[in-house]
Amino acid sequence: MYELSGVRKVFADGSVALDGISLTVGRGEHVAFIGPSGAGKTTLFRILNLTLRPTAGRLVFEGQDASGLSDAALRRARTRIGTIYQQQNLVGRLRVVHNVLAGNLGRWSTLEAAASLVRPRSAGQAATALERVGIPEKLYARTDELSGGQQQRVAIARVLVQDPDVLLADEPVSSVDPSLAVTIVSLLRDLSHESQKTLLMNLHSVELALHYFPRVVGIRDGRVRFDLAPEKVSGELLAELYAGDRDEEQALERFQDGKNPFGGACRPLPGFGA
Ligand SMILES: Nc1ncnc2c1ncn2[C@@H]1O[C@H](COP(=O)(O)OP(=O)(O)OP(=O)(O)O)[C@@H](O)[C@H]1O
Ligand SMILES: [Mg+2]
Repeated sequence: MYELSGVRKVFADGSVALDGISLTVGRGEHVAFIGPSGAGKTTLFRILNLTLRPTAGRLVFEGQDASGLSDAALRRARTRIGTIYQQQNLVGRLRVVHNVLAGNLGRWSTLEAAASLVRPRSAGQAATALERVGIPEKLYARTDELSGGQQQRVAIARVLVQDPDVLLADEPVSSVDPSLAVTIVSLLRDLSHESQKTLLMNLHSVELALHYFPRVVGIRDGRVRFDLAPEKVSGELLAELYAGDRDEEQALERFQDGKNPFGGACRPLPGFGA
């Protein structure tokens, strides 16, 4: 699905966000990315969703070198990639159905999109997607009247309508409470699994990464520090990854003391003998 070699990103102000990332992600793989604030995770995702070009290095998406794509081919490739953000980029004053159907925008002409705002095209498609994320009754609700967790589900429903090959989720749960975080992450995992999509997720929560993903990549200072199965991710590696980040260090201490913030709902976390 992706092949990155020596990808570097230097912003106009000289800050080096990515400093030689090499990584291969297979079709259908699920990978979590963790690392301290400013490590380069969001920048990496913007490169992966083809909205940002690397300063140097090579990015191959589905067998094609991204730097060689024409504008039209780039637009086509982007429709194969669905991104879910922490802020879901929903339009609050619109009804849920319209936000969900916005997943079609890459396929619809401007006219079709405008017409759909008057009379939703394929409302049935939106209803099916909402069913899959567990809020079928909200089809005609105003989006800004939903709870944070429900809005997150609307964002997921929108990406289901888009039906991409790859799902990139950048901190999709950092603004929701832990039990809802578990629900949303497992929902994304199960939906991706069912439809054989590749799922890449940036996570602040080490627990969620180790618990729900078969592969965990640690990023720090724009470099890959480790790329391992969760049971191979040791406490030392995590301490090195987050060294100097006080909040994260404290969270790790609590985590390694075996105080699982998700209570009894999870099976034992791998790698910590819990
Ligand atoms: N548009 C930009 N212009 C200049 N510097 C930027 C820009 N975007 C990001 N950076 C810098 O690049 C580095 C990596 O930022 P990035 O947002 O990728 O980190 P992150 O790992 O996603 O952090 P967080 O966990 O806080 O979301 C940071 O030093 C940041 O200040
Ligand atoms: Mg980020």
